[in-house]
Amino acid sequence: MVRISSSFLVLAVYAVGINARYRNLEHREYKLAKVSHVRRADNATSCAPYWMESVKHQGLASFNNDTSYKVFRNVKDYGAVGDGTTDDTAAIQKAISEGGRCAPGSTCQSTTTTPAVVYFPEGTYLLSASIIDYYYTQIIGNPNCLPTLLASADFNTTTGLGLIDGSPYQSTGKTGFGPTNTFFRQIRNLIFDMSKIPANVSATGIHWPTAQTTTLQNLVFNMAAGNETLHQGVFVEEGSGGFMADLTFNGGNYGFNVGNQQFTTRNLTFNGCKTAINQLWDWGWTYKSVSINNCQVGFNISAGGPSAVNVGSLTLLDSSITNTPIGIITARTAGSEPVGAGSLYMENVKLDNVKSAVSLLDAAGGIGLTGESILAGSAGASVVDAWADGHRYLPKGPTNDRGSIAPSVRPQTLVDADGKFFERSKPQYGDIPVDKFLSVRDTGAKGDGKTDDTVALNAAILQAKTEGKILYVDAGYYKISNTIYIPPGSKIVGEALSSVILSSGDFFNDINNPQPVVKVALPGEMGSIEWSDMLVSTQGQQAGAILIEYNLGSYDEPAGMWDVHTRIGGFAGSHLQADKCPTTPLVIATEENLVKDCIAAYMAMHITKFGRGLYMENNWLWTADHDLDDAKNNNTQITIYTGRGLLIESIYGTLWLYGTAVEHHSKYQYQFVDTRDIVMGQIQTETAYYQPNPSASLPFPVNAALSDPLFELLPTNTTTNTTTSANSANGWGLRILRSSNLLAYGVGLYSFFDNYSTDCSQDHLIKCQTRILSIEGDALSHDISIYNLNTVGASSMVTRDGVDLVEARDNNSTFVDTVGVFRLPLYS
Ligand SMILES: *[C@@H]1O[C@H](CO)[C@@H](O)[C@H](O)[C@H]1NC(C)=O
Ligand SMILES: *[C@@H]1O[C@H](CO)[C@@H](O)[C@H](O)[C@H]1NC(C)=O
Ligand SMILES: *[C@@H]1O[C@H](CO)[C@@H](O)[C@H](O)[C@H]1NC(C)=O
Ligand SMILES: *[C@@H]1O[C@H](CO)[C@@H](O)[C@H](O)[C@H]1NC(C)=O
Ligand SMILES: *[C@@H]1O[C@H](CO)[C@@H](O)[C@H](O)[C@H]1NC(C)=O
Ligand SMILES: *[C@@H]1O[C@H](CO)[C@@H](O)[C@H](O)[C@H]1NC(C)=O
Ligand SMILES: *[C@@H]1O[C@H](CO)[C@@H](O)[C@H](O)[C@H]1NC(C)=O
Ligand SMILES: *[C@@H]1O[C@H](CO)[C@@H](O)[C@H](O)[C@H]1NC(C)=O
Ligand SMILES: *[C@@H]1O[C@H](CO)[C@@H](O)[C@H](O)[C@H]1NC(C)=O
Ligand SMILES: *[C@@H]1O[C@H](CO)[C@@H](O)[C@H](O)[C@H]1NC(C)=O
Ligand SMILES: *[C@@H]1O[C@H](CO)[C@@H](O)[C@H](O)[C@H]1NC(C)=O
Ligand SMILES: *[C@@H]1O[C@H](CO)[C@@H](O)[C@H](O)[C@H]1NC(C)=O
Repeated sequence: MVRISSSFLVLAVYAVGINARYRNLEHREYKLAKVSHVRRADNATSCAPYWMESVKHQGLASFNNDTSYKVFRNVKDYGAVGDGTTDDTAAIQKAISEGGRCAPGSTCQSTTTTPAVVYFPEGTYLLSASIIDYYYTQIIGNPNCLPTLLASADFNTTTGLGLIDGSPYQSTGKTGFGPTNTFFRQIRNLIFDMSKIPANVSATGIHWPTAQTTTLQNLVFNMAAGNETLHQGVFVEEGSGGFMADLTFNGGNYGFNVGNQQFTTRNLTFNGCKTAINQLWDWGWTYKSVSINNCQVGFNISAGGPSAVNVGSLTLLDSSITNTPIGIITARTAGSEPVGAGSLYMENVKLDNVKSAVSLLDAAGGIGLTGESILAGSAGASVVDAWADGHRYLPKGPTNDRGSIAPSVRPQTLVDADGKFFERSKPQYGDIPVDKFLSVRDTGAKGDGKTDDTVALNAAILQAKTEGKILYVDAGYYKISNTIYIPPGSKIVGEALSSVILSSGDFFNDINNPQPVVKVALPGEMGSIEWSDMLVSTQGQQAGAILIEYNLGSYDEPAGMWDVHTRIGGFAGSHLQADKCPTTPLVIATEENLVKDCIAAYMAMHITKFGRGLYMENNWLWTADHDLDDAKNNNTQITIYTGRGLLIESIYGTLWLYGTAVEHHSKYQYQFVDTRDIVMGQIQTETAYYQPNPSASLPFPVNAALSDPLFELLPTNTTTNTTTSANSANGWGLRILRSSNLLAYGVGLYSFFDNYSTDCSQDHLIKCQTRILSIEGDALSHDISIYNLNTVGASSMVTRDGVDLVEARDNNSTFVDTVGVFRLPLYS
């Protein structure tokens, strides 16, 4: 039976109005051209100067008491020579460590008060030992002529792991920073030249055990080739990532040697590696646009073997494997354990001169040619349209299937001329001269965390747009007391992931009259924007703050948000840290006694009915679960209340969500309402750690206009005479209402805690919450495909209109529960 609530009717009428207005635009398709990239010079003389090097450096660490603290550091100012013969190791390390920064293995676990950009001009920088990365560091080279980090022939591999070690092992046997708390860092535009290190020495390009808000972009790894090589490009063994794109690996035993809860990785090229990707473990990992050439093995996902499969799932799309005998080695068999693990989904994967596309791990552990081939390769060019190995729900199940499956029907608005899902890397503006940038500091904004910058920041945004310039938001906290408006046509870039718009005051504090902190376009405005490397945050109680309200309709060219995050509570300057917002497991939280000062936001981000055509990449909408600037240096847990995570109501959708995560909001993390045409993966959520104490109903009253979920019992089913409990106490990871053509390539919905305790998710218990993913709206929700759904702590993995369709107990996997393919077809 189709239940149509009155609120749906109101929305439907509204939608018809907008439909009429934009009818002629509805089916317009983008010309999703391949984006041109800045040239890479073959020699230094042709290198264009980079604006980031020449721009005036005025970035501030607003809440650092050291007023001389420098955010921007050019390694040459610290003595690095870059001539390929002088040992620059110590100079580069000095550029990273100066200024009382947060060193791995020190008492510092994390901090937001010492952000830095460590910049490499063109040059070849000789390294004799590892460069040790610190907390909150952006290591950036000139993108116009990638600087080279050249490891010397006698490179000391015992000081760290890698030319850059992101978190060196300590004498305790642990990494310097907790891998799942290693946030806010990037490495971009560098060549890692390991070719002088003998092939028989174990050498690593980057050791990168990291979590959300981390990026590797535009890097090349040159390693020793051949059968004897022990080199590896990127090594990750732990964490909760994260995003990487535009990486090239030449040679090496492994290009990637990686394990992590989840990651989104895009545009990776592997040339002549022995094994391109060795997957140590994961829950979910999304690989898009991977090109594997002249390797021996593409992916090895057989870790753990059939008796203890260690790779939860892997999603591969829009990729190619060429001149490589074995595409993928798996350990998944009919009897492998855990039953849901080793799940593989492939879509649009080209093969050319591949003997076996998917092979079973052979007993000898060789390159897999003696193992059983379970998907034949191809001597010439061919395409795997779609192939899945794992548990399927269509939408009933599970069946344990291996083989071809009809590929997703891709909305034409989302794909490029080759039929691949559109993708576009973060613009770095290498070809734009420095005089085309406008600094907000030069136009009068203070960014000191104290001054009210509302007027100055709004004026700077308008001025940049009017003058056709890119707005440079120097590092700093821009405290504002009223909405910041970003008009169509704006291009805005921050510094050091530490350019923060910080809302404060009464305007944003009415729980019954929410207001946007940043409003991207007015409803009905059309055009495009580019926005990158910035944070939006709140200070103190902000019960009515909607951090980003997105109204922009992009019909000609998609707009983009790269590395733009919301961070709510838990940092210096937020006024919501461990002292003010402690955990309260021993108190039954009620409307009356919960700490109202810690109500920090109404909603993280709202893509309204008007929003259309937005490309999102590496965005973390985070309500803090712990204090990043903890006086005790102990990642102390805190309680911050925020009402809602990401709400998407876009009528025409056309959204790309690559590498997005939403965590610890009260009613839901993602909620899709009356929307369509969205591709996403990985998406990742965590339920608030305090729930169900208080429950998801507190402290935010239901707003029917936003289609808020109700946390109460559903009507009794008159056939079975049972009263199904809705998810009565915990927020939804993902809730879909009356929406269609949603394609999710990798979804991780985690509920680790119950009343601040992880007992409910340990030892594979699934007792933290009953339900976590809800699809509602009967026949109005259709054409929904979810590949590699991984949940933690929830007993039901998918609920449709109050009926549980997928039970976790049937899909036991690694730490998670895994479903390979879930599809809700048209009007089923
Ligand atoms: C390299 O530099 C030389 C001058 O030293 C120049 O003539 C040549 O065009 C440059 N090559 C490239 C590919 O830019
Ligand atoms: C900075 O100074 C303020 C005021 O003296 C003090 O409360 C705060 O603890 C200091 N912060 C740090 C990180 O030292
Ligand atoms: C390598 O570094 C370690 C640790 O700093 C040091 O003890 C060792 O002497 C170095 N080895 C060489 C060959 O310099
Ligand atoms: C690597 O090979 C060289 C030359 O054959 C040899 O001297 C050296 O001991 C080897 N190193 C290791 C770590 O095996
Ligand atoms: C390298 O190893 C592969 C796989 O074992 C083998 O086919 C190939 O002949 C070897 N190459 C050389 C140069 O030994
Ligand atoms: C992929 O990365 C390479 C190397 O950085 C770059 O040249 C290429 O343009 C990128 N492709 C896309 C589609 O971004
Ligand atoms: C693949 O991984 C398995 C399990 O870790 C290992 O035994 C095997 O040697 C690996 N094969 C290759 C070719 O890397
Ligand atoms: C929360 O957990 C603590 C510790 O396990 C327990 O003592 C307390 O009763 C719980 N509170 C509620 C409201 O469930
Ligand atoms: C640090 O946190 C751990 C785990 O929450 C706790 O057991 C320990 O007592 C804390 N240490 C300090 C110094 O607060
Ligand atoms: C009631 O339960 C029956 C049996 O499980 C099911 O077929 C039916 O769809 C349910 N009705 C509703 C309205 O959920
Ligand atoms: C349904 O269940 C309730 C409570 O268990 C019982 O009182 C009632 O008689 C049942 N009704 C039917 C139609 O079975
Ligand atoms: C589920 O898998 C885990 C390994 O991830 C295993 O320890 C546990 O015994 C399995 N549970 C069941 C019920 O099969």
